[in-house]
Amino acid sequence: MYRKVDHKIILAKKKLRKLSKNYKQNFKNIENYIKKEIYKIKRLKKLSKNIIPEIKYKELLSPDLRINDQIKKRGCIIIRDVFDQKKIGKLNNDLEKYIEHNGYYNDQKKKEGLDNYFSDLKSGKPQIYGLYWSKAQIKIRHSHKMAKIKKFLNNLWVFKNEEYEVFDPNRELSYADRIRRREPGDNSLGLSPHCDAGSVERWIDPSYQKIYNDIFSDRFKNFNPFDAKYRDRTIEFESPAVAHVFRTFQGWTALTEQGPKDGTLQLIPISKAMAYVLTRALLDDVPDNELCGSKVGKALSVNEKYHSLLLEGLISIPKMYPGDTIWWHPDVIHAVEDKHLGNNYSNVIYVGSTPYCKKNLDYINKQSKKFLQGKSPPDFAPEDFEVNYKGRVTEKDLSVLAKKQLGLVDWN
Ligand SMILES: [Fe+2]
Repeated sequence: MYRKVDHKIILAKKKLRKLSKNYKQNFKNIENYIKKEIYKIKRLKKLSKNIIPEIKYKELLSPDLRINDQIKKRGCIIIRDVFDQKKIGKLNNDLEKYIEHNGYYNDQKKKEGLDNYFSDLKSGKPQIYGLYWSKAQIKIRHSHKMAKIKKFLNNLWVFKNEEYEVFDPNRELSYADRIRRREPGDNSLGLSPHCDAGSVERWIDPSYQKIYNDIFSDRFKNFNPFDAKYRDRTIEFESPAVAHVFRTFQGWTALTEQGPKDGTLQLIPISKAMAYVLTRALLDDVPDNELCGSKVGKALSVNEKYHSLLLEGLISIPKMYPGDTIWWHPDVIHAVEDKHLGNNYSNVIYVGSTPYCKKNLDYINKQSKKFLQGKSPPDFAPEDFEVNYKGRVTEKDLSVLAKKQLGLVDWN
């Protein structure tokens, strides 16, 4: 018997197929574009050339505009030397003490199973810690340097349209996220290729249908993944660990040196790859009530059965040093390597970019209540590890900028 969501999927697929003169041909056209991009990626890889665009933090003062086009095409960017390596080393040590002295590992065992966001992916046990309010996280997340990077990234988007202003690119509402720590030799599996910010929603939510209208309506060439229109109006299914904010970019800051094979991030650096995932699900070999493995409340699955072409473009990001940052568009497919074969901890702090808009403000107002209590933010499983942790950041420790970003004082 079909569940309610199955009916929604069946109806959405019928509707989306009708938007195209020939949905099979439409998919073929998109597939051809992806094939060409995959070819380019493989060629660059063979020549050991940069695939992911890179820039140094100090170059943000006068960026070469060509980098903007590269970011828009690849949907990702590495910004290096943001923080001083020594400073990051110290913050990494502080974080380690915060974890050990407060008995995180024991707490974590007691609360296993609360977070099952990734449970449908093949690899579902990342070394991600449910901590949000440590000194290291706050210092990085709410620094002036981070604010400057986010302004640069937000301004790559079309944030105003003929109907309304989607967001203010120059003000930020910080989304508190977690940390990843992988010890050397760790082979507890990474994360299979996926996207956040909605799975089934991307087909059935009316705002997502508008965002992707060009894709479904035979106008793939016109689709601009950096047009923010309606991205602030999507409605997600309720589920622990599904983002209810609009992020212009997801991202993390490296706390330790880490390269390919160190259990690091992998990306499919094609900003328009979502078009392939969306139109693939409309083909006739996919059961009417299914979307190539995407499930409600879980990360959007990108898998061998339906997306083998895309997976050929999955690359590990190059070596990152303490204080370097990586950023990727919310449609960009990403993964974490299964095995960490390196010799050092590979640690990162997740910091994305959530500009000022109503959707983000609504979330931030809920998040600020959790911050004041030291609890897990509303988007995450209510593990609430840090309520009684020593060294947790409280309101009195925050800068004015941090207070604005956390919605504790008004931006104006
Ligand atoms: Fe993710």
